Amino acid sequence: MSNKTAPQIRGMKQTNQRIAMVTAYDYPTAVLASRSSADVILVGDSLGMVILGYEDTLKVTMTDMLHHCKAVARGADGPLTVGDMPFMSYQVSTEQAVKNAGRFIQEGGMDAVKLEGAGYANRVHAIVESGIPVMGHLGLTPQSVKAFGGFKIQGKTLNAARKLLDDALKLEDAGVFSIVLEGIPAELAEMVTNAVRVPTIGIGAGGGCTGQVLVFHDLLAIPSAAPFQFVRTFAKAGSLMEKGLRDYVAAVQNGTFPESCHSSHLSEPVKQALQKEVVRKCM
Ligand code: KIV
Repeated sequence: MSNKTAPQIRGMKQTNQRIAMVTAYDYPTAVLASRSSADVILVGDSLGMVILGYEDTLKVTMTDMLHHCKAVARGADGPLTVGDMPFMSYQVSTEQAVKNAGRFIQEGGMDAVKLEGAGYANRVHAIVESGIPVMGHLGLTPQSVKAFGGFKIQGKTLNAARKLLDDALKLEDAGVFSIVLEGIPAELAEMVTNAVRVPTIGIGAGGGCTGQVLVFHDLLAIPSAAPFQFVRTFAKAGSLMEKGLRDYVAAVQNGTFPESCHSSHLSEPVKQALQKEVVRKCM
């Protein structure tokens, strides 16, 4: 199956189809996301927190991202794949932004890239001009966590809400094919969705967006940590995995694994001949 295209995802708004996006970070999660018929797989820089154990996304590098994108590209079959441009991969210059976006396509095997904020709308435009589809991202953009003073809901005041609406229009003018709206009031997300022609994809932004995105490990509760307010636990995979691992460790420790069926065996004649040789060698 070939992957969906950015124009197809963009067109889903016109045909009133809801977009289901999920993150994936490696081959098995990409295979599972593809089998679930997700429309878009995002190789999010959230991998810094979910996979690498950092407290935010700021330490994630291009090398980290490309490593995970390559694995996802091998497992993705059907959904559009989007690589998340990490902190400082597009902020320094337009030239560097275009070059790094190109690496996501040429080396990472992605179909599109995502970058945060509207302050770099000129870079979004330059990347789009180079032939690479770009997904925008507004609201509680995690790469600005230090400027926000923590992971705090954005767009709550009149001025902040106005700015977010302006930013969405700026990104649309720059050529994005969709915009992620993260951590903003539901009413604002709905207004933005109505104001732009491109689809919006919400996370912690209510049900009025064109689509939704959740982090793979959050929606499946891996590990079985308490989820954020905006997450619904769709399966307790973390508890199931933990139980499986505990059972494995116990079975090894008490000698009930492996059983005979888990091994290959010598034929009776080979076994007997070998046993005789062993006995002779020991005498
Ligand atoms: O990095 C990520 O996973 C994201 C989504 C949460 C939108 O940016």
